[in-house]
Amino acid sequence: MVTMLANRDPADLEGVAVHLYRAQKSMENRVFVDADGELLIIPQDGAIEIQTELGRIEAGPGDVALVPRGVKFRVNLIAGEARGYVAENHGLPFRLPDLGPIGANGLANPRDFEVPMAAYEDRDDKTEVIQKYLGSLWTTTLDHSPLDVVGWHGNYVPWRYDLNRFNTIGTVSFDHPDPSIFTVLTSPSNVPGRANADFVIFPPRWMVAEDTFRPPWFHRNVMSEAMGLIHGAYDAKADGFAPGGLSLHNLMSGHGPDVESWQKASSADLKPHKIENTLAFMVETCWPYRPTQFALDRAQPDYDEAWAGFPKAKLPNDARRNAQSRSNLLGRWL
Ligand SMILES: [Fe+2]
Repeated sequence: MVTMLANRDPADLEGVAVHLYRAQKSMENRVFVDADGELLIIPQDGAIEIQTELGRIEAGPGDVALVPRGVKFRVNLIAGEARGYVAENHGLPFRLPDLGPIGANGLANPRDFEVPMAAYEDRDDKTEVIQKYLGSLWTTTLDHSPLDVVGWHGNYVPWRYDLNRFNTIGTVSFDHPDPSIFTVLTSPSNVPGRANADFVIFPPRWMVAEDTFRPPWFHRNVMSEAMGLIHGAYDAKADGFAPGGLSLHNLMSGHGPDVESWQKASSADLKPHKIENTLAFMVETCWPYRPTQFALDRAQPDYDEAWAGFPKAKLPNDARRNAQSRSNLLGRWL
């Protein structure tokens, strides 16, 4: 597991880090426990079994699994190798977002979160416990496996969620809604509406907006956006963003679709269209991410080239007048 992006000190009990993992063999006679935060595990390739103190969870690409802060676990490979992402949340535990006017149901529904049955092992083998605490790894060796909890009750539990169960909501009229409409989980900060961390997905969905540039628009904002791709292609990047990759747009960095995606969307016939075979996600945070040296050493040096070659827009005179009168109208309205 390598750290790509991080912010805040774990001792602040705020912030989030994004790691990548890659495994060629199961953990043997070893368990891990993270005192710094809960771990949202996002498999990208290959299924894993997460054997926790409270039971076993299998998770593969398309699932996410969460191990709460302080719960010991071991990862076993199910077949071959495994790769994926981890969001380590130092702040308030991830929870479902408030649905506001959406109402009682929608987005990720509570009924779809699966928790394990108790399962234990009775093994008097030497077991190394690796604990992450204040950003460092500490070890001790026990004379037995600590995954020996015979039964439990409570609600501080690991869980699995199948991202296919996400009830995706979008516009049925015009405009591209804020991506917060795709929030699966949120870790609030002390400022309402500005999350310590949001886990957001961009799953297959229908695009039906009229009179609208449908991909994400050009923007900058107060949140820092780390984005990954589980499979397929992301609708705002034609090339250069492969499954397993990670992109970062820190707060107030302008970004948007690349030239090819912009041209395609600008000339598209706006019929209902289904975006299929794709699953991208974002770990958005109000804190600026600092890339690690490991990440910087592997960064794409010419990333900005994605926005090179945009032609200057030619607006007819009546469009200029319309733009002017609209801003006057908005000014009066406010
Ligand atoms: Fe963005």
